[in-house]
Amino acid sequence: MLHFTASLPFDRRLAFVDIRGSIAHVEMLADRGIIVSEEADLIIQGLNDIRAEVEEDRFPYELDFEDIHMNIEKRLTEMIGPLGGKLHTGRSRNDQVALDTHLYMKDEADFLELLLKQLQETVLHLAERFEGVLIPGYTHLQRAQPVLFSHHLLAYFWMLQRDRERLEGVMKRTDLMPLGAGALAGTGFNIDRLQVADKLGFSSLYENSIDAVSDRDYIIEFLSFASILMMHLSRLCEELINWSSAEFGFIELDDAYTTGSSMMPQKKNPDLAELARGKTGRVYGSLFGILTVMKGLPLAYNKDMQEDKEGLFDTVDTLKGLLPLLAEMLDTMTINYFGLKQAVDDDYLCATDLADYLVIKGLSFRDAHHVVGSLIAYCQQEEKRLRELDRDTRSRFHPALAEEITSLLDPVKVVEARLSRGGTAPSAVREQLKLAWKELE
Ligand code: ARG
Repeated sequence: MLHFTASLPFDRRLAFVDIRGSIAHVEMLADRGIIVSEEADLIIQGLNDIRAEVEEDRFPYELDFEDIHMNIEKRLTEMIGPLGGKLHTGRSRNDQVALDTHLYMKDEADFLELLLKQLQETVLHLAERFEGVLIPGYTHLQRAQPVLFSHHLLAYFWMLQRDRERLEGVMKRTDLMPLGAGALAGTGFNIDRLQVADKLGFSSLYENSIDAVSDRDYIIEFLSFASILMMHLSRLCEELINWSSAEFGFIELDDAYTTGSSMMPQKKNPDLAELARGKTGRVYGSLFGILTVMKGLPLAYNKDMQEDKEGLFDTVDTLKGLLPLLAEMLDTMTINYFGLKQAVDDDYLCATDLADYLVIKGLSFRDAHHVVGSLIAYCQQEEKRLRELDRDTRSRFHPALAEEITSLLDPVKVVEARLSRGGTAPSAVREQLKLAWKELE
């Protein structure tokens, strides 16, 4: 029974926030005259000693006492005697564990926001470093139109920007202090919840004691944020994996983030990117785990809710491990100018611009689309680039094509023409970069 139900193996990491919460609680009890201040001092001294034991890795964890909360209380009683029992006055493990998880998440969310910002910064630096480099843009994984490599990278900046905004929303809704809810109904002791909130850096309180101990929305929201973020990172990693393959040959990842094969000497496997893609599944799993745990629970606390922790902790660890590594991998990747040039040299990518040109010459877009389509079918049959066709051949498809069209088939010119706001022209991308830096500040 104990092995199956104990949470100690994983909730040990709440030790520090548990002690912080308990000290704030005890100080409030003393201020309110619920316990005398000499008693409070002894309890706080004991809690500080326990913190030192945890820090120095000499705290005697005992599975017999189920979870970190009971372990700390038990240790306190060992140290200061029966007085230790007064710590839990007006409090239940239900509001205690809720407080601890809120405190834990507040700390971790702050740190994750910093890591996210650093990744965004890396993306901006990359966009600046590769200014002017072209890459084929894709739809359906078919070459579509040439774009600036910076423009493509900046798309990820804006995804991460929305992720950061979502995280800020999570932080706001985690900033609610649950202690004082007791087991579910509040307490008869004359406590001061605002004082505890103030001491612990919360800006508001749960206004309903039943909600305070039953709520796991903040964890679900955090895992939703994390799932969307991982989805974005996974898409980025998928692209890095593709681009570094011989089939694309656009980039090379630094050796530090790849591995060799034990059998095939030529291999350079993008392990970090692959594992990032793979871990996304785990994070989704944690989100669905807790959503499913919560969906049938009557109010208020049920032991099922202890299942909120492992998925949360695992996700925090995944993000804390991955975000800095991903930033380093991006920062150290190099691009293969020759491979990119070859790919962009495919002037079929300029077909849209050729069709637009015919529209300017008076055709409807549909007719223009048809003319250029036939021209490309012909080129494919003859194994030629558009620019290799002579005037006479071109004019067989439409008289307007007899004119000089080479500039229309130059990918650099094509990109330069996409001047619409948010478009891929160098000047538009420079504007975008400016806005992006401003968002980051
Ligand atoms: N370890 C428990 C958890 O994480 C603490 C709360 C236990 N409360 C209770 N009434 N059994 O949920």
